[in-house]
Amino acid sequence: MSERVIEQEEAMKSKTCLVFAINGERFELELSSIDPSTTLIDFLRNKTPFKSVKLGCGEGGCGASCVVLLSKYDPLLEKVDDFTISSCLTLLCSIDGCSITTSEGLGNSRVGFHAVHERIAGFHATQCGFCTPGMSVSMFSALLNADKSHPPSSGCSNITAAEAEKAVAGNLCRCTGYRPLVDACKSFASDVDIEDLGFNSFCKKGDNKDDVLGRLPCYDHTSSQVCTFPEFLKNEIKIDMSLDPRKYRWSSPVSVSELQGLLEVGNGMSVKLVAGNTSTGYYKEEKEKKYERFIDIRRIPELTVVRRDEEGVELGAAVTISKAIEALREKENGSMLAKIANHMEKIANRFVRNTGTIGGNIMMAQRKQFPSDLTTILLAARATVKIMTNSSGQEQFTLEEFLQQPPLETNSVLLSLEIPSWRPVKTKNGSASDSHLLFETYRAAPRPFGNALPFLNAAFSAEVSLSEELNGTVLHDCLLAFGAYGTKHAHRATKVEEFLTGKVISDEVLIEAIGLLKDEIVPDKGTSNSGYRSSLAVTFLFEFFGSLTQTNAKTTNGLLNGGCKENGESLKPEAMLSSAQQIVENQEHTPVGKGIVKAGARLQASGEAVYVDDIPAPKDCLYGAFIYSTLPVARIKGITFKQNKVPEGVLGILTYRDIPEGGINVGSKVFFGADLLFAEEITLCAGQIIAFLVADSQKHADIAANQVVIDYDTEGLDSPILSVEDAVEKSSFFDIPPPLRGKPVGDIAKGMSEAEYKILGSKISFGSQYFFYMEPQTALAPQTALAVPDEDNCMVVYSSSQMPEAVHRTVALCLGVPENNVRVITRRVGGGFGGKVTKSIPVATACALAASKMQRPVRIYVNRKTDMITTAGRHPMKITYSVGFKSNGKITALDLEVLLEAGISEDVSPLMVSGIQGALMKYDFGALAFNVKVCKTNTVSRTAVRAPGDVQGTYIAEAIIEKVASYLSLDVDEIRKVNLHTYESLKLFHNVKAGEAPEYTLPLIWDKLAENSEFNQRRKVVEEFNASNMWRKRGISRVPAVYGVSMRSTPGRVSILSDGSIAVEVQGIEIGQGLWTKVKQMAAFTLGLIQCGTTSDELLEKIRVIQSDTLSMVQGGVTGGSTTSEMSCDAVRICCDGLVERLLPIKTTLMEQTGGPVTWDNLISQAYKQSINMAVSTLYLPDSSTGGYINYGVAASEVEVNVLTGETTVLRTDIIYDCGKSLNPAVDLGQIEGAFVQGLGFFMLEEYLMNSDGLVVTDSTWTYKIPTVDTIPRQFNVEILNSGHHKNRVLSSKASGEPPLLLAASVHCAARAAVKEAKKQVSTWCSNQQEIDLTFDLPVPATMPVVKEYCGLDVVEKYLEWKIQQRKNI
Ligand SMILES: Cc1cc2nc3c(=O)[nH]c(=O)nc-3n(C[C@H](O)[C@H](O)[C@H](O)COP(=O)(O)OP(=O)(O)OC[C@H]3O[C@@H](n4cnc5c(N)ncnc54)[C@H](O)[C@@H]3O)c2cc1C
Ligand code: FES
Ligand code: FES
Repeated sequence: MSERVIEQEEAMKSKTCLVFAINGERFELELSSIDPSTTLIDFLRNKTPFKSVKLGCGEGGCGASCVVLLSKYDPLLEKVDDFTISSCLTLLCSIDGCSITTSEGLGNSRVGFHAVHERIAGFHATQCGFCTPGMSVSMFSALLNADKSHPPSSGCSNITAAEAEKAVAGNLCRCTGYRPLVDACKSFASDVDIEDLGFNSFCKKGDNKDDVLGRLPCYDHTSSQVCTFPEFLKNEIKIDMSLDPRKYRWSSPVSVSELQGLLEVGNGMSVKLVAGNTSTGYYKEEKEKKYERFIDIRRIPELTVVRRDEEGVELGAAVTISKAIEALREKENGSMLAKIANHMEKIANRFVRNTGTIGGNIMMAQRKQFPSDLTTILLAARATVKIMTNSSGQEQFTLEEFLQQPPLETNSVLLSLEIPSWRPVKTKNGSASDSHLLFETYRAAPRPFGNALPFLNAAFSAEVSLSEELNGTVLHDCLLAFGAYGTKHAHRATKVEEFLTGKVISDEVLIEAIGLLKDEIVPDKGTSNSGYRSSLAVTFLFEFFGSLTQTNAKTTNGLLNGGCKENGESLKPEAMLSSAQQIVENQEHTPVGKGIVKAGARLQASGEAVYVDDIPAPKDCLYGAFIYSTLPVARIKGITFKQNKVPEGVLGILTYRDIPEGGINVGSKVFFGADLLFAEEITLCAGQIIAFLVADSQKHADIAANQVVIDYDTEGLDSPILSVEDAVEKSSFFDIPPPLRGKPVGDIAKGMSEAEYKILGSKISFGSQYFFYMEPQTALAPQTALAVPDEDNCMVVYSSSQMPEAVHRTVALCLGVPENNVRVITRRVGGGFGGKVTKSIPVATACALAASKMQRPVRIYVNRKTDMITTAGRHPMKITYSVGFKSNGKITALDLEVLLEAGISEDVSPLMVSGIQGALMKYDFGALAFNVKVCKTNTVSRTAVRAPGDVQGTYIAEAIIEKVASYLSLDVDEIRKVNLHTYESLKLFHNVKAGEAPEYTLPLIWDKLAENSEFNQRRKVVEEFNASNMWRKRGISRVPAVYGVSMRSTPGRVSILSDGSIAVEVQGIEIGQGLWTKVKQMAAFTLGLIQCGTTSDELLEKIRVIQSDTLSMVQGGVTGGSTTSEMSCDAVRICCDGLVERLLPIKTTLMEQTGGPVTWDNLISQAYKQSINMAVSTLYLPDSSTGGYINYGVAASEVEVNVLTGETTVLRTDIIYDCGKSLNPAVDLGQIEGAFVQGLGFFMLEEYLMNSDGLVVTDSTWTYKIPTVDTIPRQFNVEILNSGHHKNRVLSSKASGEPPLLLAASVHCAARAAVKEAKKQVSTWCSNQQEIDLTFDLPVPATMPVVKEYCGLDVVEKYLEWKIQQRKNI
C-alpha cells in the first residue's frame, strides 16, 4: 500500500459499526458481524419485525413489495433526499447513515394508517395485497417529492395526475389491473376532480364536492406522522467518521486515491466494486459469489460530480441514473441533453434508477455485454469516458473505443463520462454555420414507460442544412448508433454514416442507406426475433430521416424536425388514463350488495397482513430449495456439488429414497391421479423435481441448489415426447372419463351439407401462460411432534394453497400417517390464479417430509426462477377445425379437433374439455362435433390457470368468426351478431345451465354496449383515421363472452362468542378475490334478521373470518372455478339461519319479560346463560339439478397499432358484465378489471417459452412480461349489469373471478383488425397485390414482433420503393 494512503487512513477516525434507522428506530450493527453480501431485504425480513417488505422476484423487476423509501441527509445543505429503492438489490452495508421507511412505517393499525393506505383501501385498490405495501411506499415517495419544492394547497399534493400515473409505473400487480391504484394516487393530485375518478368508498350518491373532499382521508404533507429521517441520525452522521478500510470486508473510500490504495492492497484478492448493486438483478449469479472485499464507490466526490459548462457535461461514474436525468433535463425539451434524459427515464424503473449508476450501467455493457440503453445513446452523443487503471493511471477514451476494448480489469475503475457540447463540422471546416444538429433516440420495448429491455435501441445525431441550390436537406455529418439487438455492444453503422455524409436526403438515398444498414445491423446467431430487430433498425432510420426527404423540412428553435411525421401525425398516442364505472348497489339484503371496502385492505396496504412467509421462523428452522431436472428423459446417476464441495449451510438432500416406510412418493393427489413428489431413477420431464435440498437459511439453500451437479445418462432411453404431434404419433394420451368428454350438438353431417361455403382443416395454436402470482410458492412445516413420546406422529403445515384439503391428504400419504395426524393451515394467499391448487401441494409435502425426516421445522420460499420452471401453467393447444356457413355468415356446422398438451401427468387436464367447449359455444354453430385429445408429453404437468380452457375456447370461436368474415369479405361484427344464440339454441347447446329465458342477458348486453360505447359511430371514426394515417392503424372490435360455472359442496361454521363477537370459518381461501368480505356481508345480513337494534355496519364490525384449518373443518375442497365466494356465502347463510332460529325464541321471551327492545349483547348473554349451542356448522350442497349457470359479458376494445414498430396501444375498452345482483360491486369490479388485464397479458404480451428439452426459458421478470400500468386500456369503462332475480343463485348473484378474462379477446380481435388495415395499405404499395393475405390469423400472444411481422417487416422498404416508382411514373 502506498504511504500516502496509509497516512490518510491513520488520520481518519474509524468506526466499527453501521448505524441506520428503520421506521425511526435506531439500528447499530458491528461490521465484523455482517456478511457484506447481505441484502437489505434479507435483513428486514429476517432480523426486524418489519414484514411488509416482501420478495417477489429478487431481480429489481417487480417492485412487488420490496420497495422501501431510503432517506439521506446532507449535513452541509441540511437537506434530506428521499427516494425509493428495491431492497432486494440494495446491500445492507450501503445504507450506513441512511434511514429506511417501509409501509408499516408510514402508518399502521396501532398508530393509525396513513392517508395513502386509507385511500388504497377506499379506492378498492388491493386484492391479494402482496404488492400493496410496495405500491404504498411508491405513492408516498411520489407525494413527498412533489411537495418538497413548495407547500401544496390544503388537503392536496402538488403531484399532477400525469405524475401520479407514473408513480407506480415500475411496480407489478397481478390482481387489480392497476386502474384503482392509479386512481388512489391521483386522488391526491390538485389537477384532478375526485368525481372523475373510479368507484370508491368516499363518494356517495348525491354528495357535493365538498362532502367528498371532507370524507377523503386527510393528507397533510407537513404531518409529523412520517419522519423519514430521524433527528438522532442527523446528529450521528454529523460526526464524520469513516469505516477503517483495512479491517473489514466492506469499505467506503472517500477519495480516488484512497480507492486506488484499496485496489492496490486488494490486488490478488477477489474484490467487488459496488455502486447501486442493481446489476445483481440481471447477473443473479453475482449474488452467490464469495468476494473477499466489497468497495463502495459512492462516497467518492470525484465519482459523484455533475459539471456543466460550455464544453459539455461531465458526470461522475457513481451518479445515479435519476440524478443524471435531473442534471440533463433542460427547460427546452428538444435539446440533445433533454432527449437523452427522456430516454434514460425508460431505463428500468424508478426504484432501480434511483440507485443504479451510469458507471454501473456502462461497466455492465463493457464487461458483460449487457444490452444497455445508456451506451447506445451516449455513443451517438459522442461521449468520452475517463478510466483509472492500475498500470496506466488515468486515461480518456471515446465511449466507442472503450466498448471495443477487452473487458476492463476488475481492479480498474470508470471514473466519469463526458458528453461534449455540439460543434458543427461545417464551422470546424471554416464554412459559415448555417447547419443544425438533429438528435433523436429510439427504443422499442413491450412496456412504453420502461421496465423492459428493448428489442433494439438507437440514437442518431446528424448535422444538416437546407440547401436551396440542391433543393433539399444536406447531411454534413452523422453518427448512427444501434444497440441491445443481440450483439456484444452498441454499434455505429459506419458504412451507412459514410454513405450518407455529404448527400442530399432523398427517398433514393434512403433506400440505398437501408440496404447498407441491413448488412450492418445484424443480430448474432441465436438472437430471438432477429428479423424483427433488424426491421426496427430500418424503422428508426426511416423515422429519423423520413421527413427530411421532403423539401419543405422546417427548422424549429434551431433544430430540424426529425422523425417521420406524415401529415403531422405523431407516432405515439399518449392520452392519460381515464375510466368510468356504472354500478348498482343493491339494498335488498344490505349489507350484501354494498360496495364495502375489502376486509383487511388497510392491513394489506400497511403490510401487516400476514402471509405464510411472514410467520416468524420457529426455533431451529431449516430451509429448503428444489433441485429439478434440466433434461426431459434421463437416468439420474448421481447428485453432487460443483468441485465436489458441499456448500455452506447444507444439511442434506432428500430424494424419493427418503420417503418413510409406509409413505408414498406422491407430490399431489387430486381429481384424476397422482403426481410424483420426486423423480425416481429416470426423470420424466425437464423441470421435474428431483430432490429437496435442506440448509440452515433460505439463502444458503438457494445458493447450494445452484451448485448441484446432476449426473445424467440418456443411453438406451426412449426419446422424449415434446410436442402434441409427437404424442399423436406415439399415441401418448390420457384418458378422459366419459362424462367429461364433451358432447356433440346436432348433426354435423347435416350441418355441413346445409353450408354454402366451407373452410376445411384450418389451424389455430396457443402457447402457455404463467400464473405470475406475486407471492411465489411457499410453505412452512413448523411442528413435528415425533420427538414427544406421548404424542402421535403429527405434522402441522402452513401452506399458501388454494386447496389445503389436498395438501393435507397428500402429506399424510407421503408420510404414511393417518390423516388425523396432519393439520394444514392457510390464512391468505398472495395471488393464486390456479397456480396454488395442485402446484402448492408438492411444495408443502416436501417441507413436511423434510421436517419429519430432520425432526426440525422446515420452510421454503421458492425463488421465482424455480417457481417458473417447476409449475408450468396453461395448456398449450393446437386446434384443427372445419366450418360450414351460409353466404350471410351464419355458421351451420363446426367440426373441431383439439390437441391439448397436458404434460407428464393428468393434473386437472381432463376438466379442460368442458371449459373449452363451454366458452366456445357462445355462438350458435348449428351443429358441433368436438374431439379433444389430452396428450401426455414429457413436460411439466399443465394445470388450471384462471379461466382454464375457457379463454382458449372463446378465442377459438372468435378466430372462426373472423375467418368466416374474411372469407366472405363481410363485416365481422355482423357475423358475430348473426351467430349469437337465441334462447332456444342456447338451451340446445348448454342444456340446463342455460337457466330461464330472462337469465339470457347476452343479447341485451350486446346492444347496450354498442349504445353506451358509441360503437358504430366510433367504427366510422376509426375508418376515417385509417384513411388519413399511414403508420398508425386502428381497429375496434366487440366480443361476447359466455362462461359456465358450477357449484360444489363446501363447509362453513359460524360461532357467536360470549361478548357477541362472531367467528366465521369457511374453507374457501382468501386469494384476493374478496371472499372474506362477501362472507362477512352475508353473515351480517343473515344475523341482522334477528333485528336487535344493531345496524348492519355494527354487525360487520363484530365479524371475523378466521384462517382455514383442515382439522377444524373437513371436506374443504378447492378454491377455484369462480364460485367459491358464493358457495362459502351460502354455507355461512345456512349456519346463520340456524343461529337465528335458535336466537329468535330467546329474543321473543326477553321482549316479553322486559317489554322493551332487546340488544344484541343481551340476547347473546341470555343464550349463553341458557346453554344454547352458539356454533353452527354445515356442508353446503348445491342443488344437483341446477348446479351450474352461465355468465355473460361483452367488451368492445379499440386499439392503435404502430405499423413501424408493432406496438399496440389499447385506446379504450368498454365492458358490460352481468353480475346478477352483485354481492359486493366493489369487489366484483376489481375482479372484472383484474381478470381483463390478465387476459390482456395472455392475448398480447406473455410468452412462456421452453427450450428444445422442454425446459422453461422465460423464467424471470426480464423475459416474462405481464401487463403494467402503461399497457392497460387508456380509457377503461366498466358497467356491472344488475340483472334480475336468479332463483338458483346465491341471493341472485353471479360469479366474476374468471369469466371477464375472456373479454380481453376483444383487444386481440381489434389488433387483428388494425393489422388488416396495415396489410391493406401495404398491398397498395405492391405491384403484385395477390401477395397480401387478408384472411390471416394473428397468433396469440400478439406481441410487438408478431404484430410487426404481420404488418410486414419490410413496410418501410416497400413504401419507399413505391414512392420512387410513383415519381418515375409521373
Ligand atoms: C430491473 C432492471 C431493469 C433494467 N433495465 C434497463 C434498461 O432497460 N436499459 C438499460 O440500459 N439498463 C437497464 N438496467 C440496468 C441498470 O441501468 C443497471 O443495473 C445500473 O445502471 C447499474 O448500476 P449500479 O450502480 O447498480 O451498478 P452495480 O451493480 O453496482 O455495478 C455493476 C458492475 O459494474 C461494476 N462497477 C460499478 N461501477 C463501476 C465503476 N465506476 N468502475 C468499474 N466498475 C464498476 C461493479 O463491480 C459491477 O460489476 C436495468 C436494471 C434492472 C435491475
Ligand atoms: S423483489 Fe425486488 S423488485 Fe421484485
Ligand atoms: S393485489 Fe397486487 S398482486 Fe395481488
